Amino acid sequence: MNVRDSEHMIAELNRQEPYELTENLNEADLIIINTCSVREKPVAKLFSEIGVFNKYKKPSAKIGVTGCTASHLGEEIIKRAPSVDFVLGARNVSKITQVINQKHAVEVSTDFDESTYDFAEYRSNPFKAMVNISIGCDKSCTFCIVPATRGEEISIPSDLIVQEITKAVATGAKEVMLLGQNVNNYGRRFGSNEEQCDFTQLLRKISQIEGLERIRFTSPHPLHMDDAFLEEFANNPKICKQIHVPLQSGSTSLLKAMKRGYTKENFINRCEKIRALCPEAAISTDIIVGFPGESDPDFEDTMDVLEKVRFEQLFSFKYSARPHTEAATFTNQIDSDIAGERLTRLQSRHTEILDEVMDAQLGAVHQVYFDELKSGGRVSGRSDDGKLFFVQGSEELLGKILPVKVIKTSRGALDGEVL
Ligand code: 5AD
Ligand code: SF4
Repeated sequence: MNVRDSEHMIAELNRQEPYELTENLNEADLIIINTCSVREKPVAKLFSEIGVFNKYKKPSAKIGVTGCTASHLGEEIIKRAPSVDFVLGARNVSKITQVINQKHAVEVSTDFDESTYDFAEYRSNPFKAMVNISIGCDKSCTFCIVPATRGEEISIPSDLIVQEITKAVATGAKEVMLLGQNVNNYGRRFGSNEEQCDFTQLLRKISQIEGLERIRFTSPHPLHMDDAFLEEFANNPKICKQIHVPLQSGSTSLLKAMKRGYTKENFINRCEKIRALCPEAAISTDIIVGFPGESDPDFEDTMDVLEKVRFEQLFSFKYSARPHTEAATFTNQIDSDIAGERLTRLQSRHTEILDEVMDAQLGAVHQVYFDELKSGGRVSGRSDDGKLFFVQGSEELLGKILPVKVIKTSRGALDGEVL
């Protein structure tokens, strides 16, 4: 979502004034730090980064802080770092061209509706497009700061989405990544128009776009994975067979304290349904360890779900208390060392599973969409189920979807040869 917000800002700046991206900090006239605040670490890094930029930037260069940390700290950023020229919250991306010329502008409202704003176009990768389908989040997971920084959920009208993807396809994108905090809750609320369209219907509509060959989306919520959605996922040939199912915890009582809306059994049931409908699908997940009150048996439940589902990709985090969240006020916080030990155990077990999954790929054939030239005469791409591939080749492979046989496996990527 942040990467897409950055692309939108670049596009808007290009439309208004001819800014160009630079690799050299001392050449920049404008420095934008687009921030995340979902965990504590990136927030702490912000102020040291500002210090580094101050040291090496041109004296006339402006610095702006944007994104979720901008939303939650607002004016305080300029108080703590007066060299910052403007602060622009995650819900106000379309105002970028206004704030760059307004000394100490702070635009951080979380109820600004930019769901129908027609952003200018910019893609960091010409072969793939990212397209937002909703803004904000209506859930109230007790650990999560996002509803406080991105505001209430509003779906983007489906016609606008189709229009944006059609334009991207016309300029070379065969793949789209649909983005939202909670994509399969799509259609619950629109800003001004009265549309009736849920996520499954949206997927059907998008898959009719001629020339579009691959559809990905992130992130869906396990609570909204009804059978109709999973059947569409399994049966629609344009939908890539990779699905992120964020678990957070395997313990039903912790899931309740997190206000996730499902139990351990519901979660496993949804994953089993995915495997039954679509055995080739790769399932990935997010897990938080050390959430307040997490006991040893709670953590064992998480390990148990890992064993049962055998996630292909795991994004795992030590719980960090965030401002404006309910869980930050819970009195049963977990000792950081215990959380650290649990995280290590979870990650090591997952590494073993991943090694088994990847080793089993030797000799397998996947359809790979090549989208990046690498050093050493190599080209990279992704299989339908999201695996990273490298093959020997040149730019003529770029933009093509070709059958590739796995010749060497490793944990993070597969080496292959084009058949
Ligand atoms: N502490 C640790 N991890 C968190 N996440 C969200 N909030 C927190 C927090 N307070 C994780 C969740 C989410 C992912 C994007 O970040 O796993 O799915
Ligand atoms: Fe945060 Fe929960 Fe919304 Fe995801 S669904 S963004 S974890 S509040």
